[in-house]
This record gives sequence, structure tokens and C-alpha cells, in this order.
Amino acid sequence: MSRRIIPVADISAIPVIPANPGPPSPDGTLHDAFARPLRDLRISVTDRCNFRCVYCMPRAVFDKNYRFLPHSALLSFEEIERLARIFVAHGVEKIRLTGGEPLLRKNLEYLIERLARLTTPGGQPLDLTLTTNGALLARKAHSLKNAGLTRVTVSLDALDDPLFRQMNDADFALDEVLTGISTAHSAGLAPLKVNMVVKRGTNDSQILPMANYFRHSGIVLRFIEYMDVGTSNGWNMTEVLPSAEVIAQIAAHYPLVPLEAHSEAETAQRWGYADGAGEIGVISSVTRAFCATCTRARLSTEGKLYLCLFASAGHDLRALVRQGTRDADLAAAIAHIWHNRNDRYSQLRGSAHGPTLPGERRVEMSYIGG
Ligand code: GTP
Ligand code: 5AD
Ligand code: SF4
Ligand code: SF4
Repeated sequence: MSRRIIPVADISAIPVIPANPGPPSPDGTLHDAFARPLRDLRISVTDRCNFRCVYCMPRAVFDKNYRFLPHSALLSFEEIERLARIFVAHGVEKIRLTGGEPLLRKNLEYLIERLARLTTPGGQPLDLTLTTNGALLARKAHSLKNAGLTRVTVSLDALDDPLFRQMNDADFALDEVLTGISTAHSAGLAPLKVNMVVKRGTNDSQILPMANYFRHSGIVLRFIEYMDVGTSNGWNMTEVLPSAEVIAQIAAHYPLVPLEAHSEAETAQRWGYADGAGEIGVISSVTRAFCATCTRARLSTEGKLYLCLFASAGHDLRALVRQGTRDADLAAAIAHIWHNRNDRYSQLRGSAHGPTLPGERRVEMSYIGG
């Protein structure tokens, strides 16, 4: 059966009304309708990827006919830096570069150098990180570090080469990603985290091998519940393996102790190996939603601001930037948008009417980043 494919880039933008920014906090930070501050900005620098992970960019949808964004649609590095500066002035302390695969964007180090120079109003450097599939990491780890990147998170779903190739659906070899991880580790991109999306029946056999591999490494392995992001991955609850089961599996071999969260907004629940072999984390957006403390905004490759990973439309900041809007008005627009934010998709997922209206198409993860 042929499917009509609507490129995500066609999703209409919510008009931005640069007015009524809401009451400013004494320290200039912004709070949304549920009093959640704006602290994290995730910036997607490309909608392209060299992998076709089955849960994110299934090849049947993201094939040779798929229309990725043209270069002119992308925010330039100067535009990204300018917006980032405004966000940082209003409370953002952490910036994560995402994609698609961010290392595919040419001269990314140039952008990193500029973002690394930003400081919070209190004079602190940013927590500047990126999420990568690791394919180009061995080649780029040192230049990323030299450009000022603080740390990286690498996605890795299996330690079995045939299964890894099956999951990335690009016939990409496991060894190259493992070399990327060890190169990034020795380059000092720390703390280095590895994210594994667990799909029941696909890669749950890899939970223990992954735990074993990263014990004693100083690398933090995190298990992510498979989520219903976008509309292409054919998500089904039966394929979600609850984090509680992941923890039980590992604890049966290695006793675990709960660790305190680093911050209220942390996505992962942390666990330590009782024998001192390091820590792991679980990200349970399906079975234990963390919307109540969600401080994350997402800037898409073409400059739309999304207030939730599961949103169907974004606020077009690129239009404002390209219309010559002054910094103060851009800041007022961002304040207005954040002030009205009431998104909490994961929390509402299980509710009778569900959080998405009929006919709404949620954005793809490859478009706004994970
Ligand atoms: P750290 O600062 O290193 O703890 O990173 P993080 O957990 O904030 O970000 P990361 O990119 O490592 O997120 C890991 C995974 O958690 C993502 O790939 C998503 O699957 C999920 N995730 C991150 N942020 C959100 C969010 O706001 N909502 C939901 N539902 N899932 C999220
Ligand atoms: N469920 C959970 N995580 C996902 N990611 C992509 N798609 C999904 C999904 N359906 C996350 C993975 C990957 C990052 C880029 O996005 O963590 O590492
Ligand atoms: Fe690419 Fe990451 Fe999506 Fe896999 S999960 S297709 S590596 S963007
Ligand atoms: Fe934040 Fe939306 Fe994720 Fe909830 S579902 S944690 S509001 S991004």
C-alpha cells in the first residue's frame, strides 16, 4: 500500500506575536504556564542522517524521494549564535546540538567555538554538548574538544554487529562507533554518556552485554524507553520495555543503589553499581513521565521553536530574524512563547482523550532532535 508522505518541513508554523511577554522574573529567567523555567536549548543543525534507525528514520519513509530541507532553509551559524545568545541571556544554561546527525553539518566546529564563548548572566560557561550516532566521532572528537565542546552523548543500541547493522539500517559497522566512543573518551569529552533505546523483542537481549561492556569504563550508559515520537515509526506499546524491567535485569547480576539526581530537570534516574563499577541511568518517558520538571526548548534546523518533543507545530523565529527584528523584540517574542507554554505530552499520553488532536501530525525526532 502506498502512503502519502507529508514532509515535516510543510508543518505550518504558529504565528509569533511579539507582545505581552508576561511578568519577568527578577533574574531575567522565563517561566511557563506551569512555572517551569527555560533552562535547556536543544538546537538541531541538520535534518539529515547517515543512519536509518528503524525507530527514528525508517527507510520506507526516509527514502531517496524524501525531501530534506534545502540549505537556504537552514539557520546559518550566525543566526544560531544570535538566537542562542538571547536564550542564554534569559536563563538557558545548557545547549545540546542535535540533528539528524549533527556531525554531518559542515564546519560544525566553527559554531561550537562561537557557542563556547557564551556565558550565563552570572558569568558561568555553558554546558555545551551534542548527541551523535558516533559514525564520524573517531575523526572529529579532537577538533570538537578543541573547539570548546564540553561533552558528548553517543547513541548505541547493540553490541552485536549484525543486530547493530540491522538497527541502524545503513549497514554501519559497530567497531567504528566503539572506536568513536573511545576516541571521544580519551579526548576528554566528559562525562561521556551512551544512550540505548530499548525495543522489546528487538534489542532487549543487549541490555546485559551493554551493561557489562561499560562497567568500569567511566562512561554512563543510559537505557531509554522506546517512545511514540513522530508518526513514522509505527510505535506500539507492546514494544516498550519499562525501565523497571531493565533495572531488575541488571540488578539480578550486579546489585544497584539509587543515586540522587544532579538536578530537578534531569531526564534520567541514576543508579550506581554497589561494587563501585560506575553508574547507569534510565529514561522512562513512557512509564514515568517527567513533564512536570521539563525545562527544554527545541530549535529546529529551520529556526522554528518547539516547546515539546511531541509538538505538531513550532514558532517561526527564523522569519523574525530574517525580517530584521531587533534583539529586544526577539527576546520579547521568546518570552511570550515560553510564558504561554503548557505542553506536557508524556504526562497526558495515557489520558482518555490523549494529548494530540485528530489530524495533528507530530514532528519527527530527526527534525527537532532527540
Ligand atoms: P543529559 O544532560 O546528559 O542528562 O542529557 P539529556 O538526558 O537531557 O538529553 P539526551 O539527549 O541524552 O536525552 C536522552 C533521551 O531522552 C532522548 O534521546 C529522548 O529519547 C529522551 N528525552 C530527552 N529529552 C526529552 C524530553 O524533553 N521529553 C521526552 N519525552 N523525552 C526526552
Ligand atoms: N524513542 C526513544 N528515543 C528515540 N530517539 C530517537 N527516536 C526515539 C524513539 N522513538 C533518541 C535516541 C537517539 C537520539 C538521537 O534520539 O536516544 O539516541
Ligand atoms: Fe539518525 Fe539518531 Fe535518528 Fe538514528 S536515532 S536515524 S542516528 S538521528
Ligand atoms: Fe517536555 Fe514534552 Fe517531553 Fe513532557 S513530553 S518532558 S513536556 S518535551
